Amino acid sequence: MKIALLGGTGDIAEGLVLRWSKAGHEIFIGSRSDEKAKGIASEYIEKLNDLGIESKIHGMPNADAAKAAEVVIISIPPEYAAATISQIKDSFTDQIVVTPVVSMERHEDKSFVYNPPPHGSSALEIKEALPETARLVSAYHNLPAKELSKVEEELDYDVVICGDDEEAKEVVKKLTEDMPNMRVLDAGPLKLSSMIEAITPLIVNLNVRHKHHFSIKFT
Ligand SMILES: NC(=O)c1ccc[n+]([C@@H]2O[C@H](COP(=O)([O-])OP(=O)(O)OC[C@H]3O[C@@H](n4cnc5c(N)ncnc54)[C@H](OP(=O)(O)O)[C@@H]3O)[C@@H](O)[C@H]2O)c1
Repeated sequence: MKIALLGGTGDIAEGLVLRWSKAGHEIFIGSRSDEKAKGIASEYIEKLNDLGIESKIHGMPNADAAKAAEVVIISIPPEYAAATISQIKDSFTDQIVVTPVVSMERHEDKSFVYNPPPHGSSALEIKEALPETARLVSAYHNLPAKELSKVEEELDYDVVICGDDEEAKEVVKKLTEDMPNMRVLDAGPLKLSSMIEAITPLIVNLNVRHKHHFSIKFT
C-alpha cells in the first residue's frame, strides 16, 4: 500500500517506516521541511539496504505526502496534530487516517498523566480537523518507539484499535499484522479512543520506574 507518515521524521514514525518498508509497502515521509524529509528518507533507505532490504521511501512536505497515500499516519506531537491537519485539509479525501496521538502532561514529581483535549480524546479532536470523507482509525498509542525501530526484532504486542469505519479498521489490522508478531484487538467505535490513549502514560510511568520497555498483551 501507499502509506504516508506526517511528521514522519520523528520517533514513532521510524519503526513504522522501517517495518512497513520491509513488508513491501511504499512510504511517503512527510515533514514541514522538504529537505529534512528527503534526508531522513535517504537514511532509512540506506539502513534497510544494509540489511539487504530494498525499499521505496520518499521524502516530501506533509501536504504532498498525504495526497500521495491511501493510508496516512498522524505521527505529530499532540499539541500540533490537529492544527497541522487543518493547514493541509485540502490534501485529504477518502484516505484512511490513523492517529497514535496521545496528549499527556508531566507533573512536578516526574510522573506522566493523561491530559485529553476538550473534545474528550486526541482522536476526536483530529476527527473534527479532518474532512468528513476521511476514515479515521485510532491505533499504535501503546507502542514504544525505541522497540519498534529495532526492525529485526519481532514484537509480541497487542495493538488495540478503534474507529467507526469497519473497512478502514480491517486495513489497519492487516498493516499491523505485516509487522511480526503483533496482534490487533478491535475495541469498537472511535469514541472509545480516550480509554486506549489513557493507558499510554501508565505504560510510560512503568517504563521509567522499572527501566523496561513494556507494552500491552491481553491473555
Ligand atoms: N514516541 C513514542 O514512543 C510514541 C508512542 C506511541 C504514540 N506516540 C504518539 O505519536 C506522535 C508522535 O510522537 P513522536 O514521539 O514520534 O514525536 P516527535 O518525534 O517529537 O515528533 C514527530 C514529528 O513531528 C513534527 N513536528 C514537531 N513539531 C511540530 C509542529 N510544531 N508542527 C508540525 N509538526 C511538528 C516533526 O517533524 P518535522 O520537523 O519533520 O516537521 C517531528 O519529527 C505523538 O502524538 C505521540 O503521542 C508516540
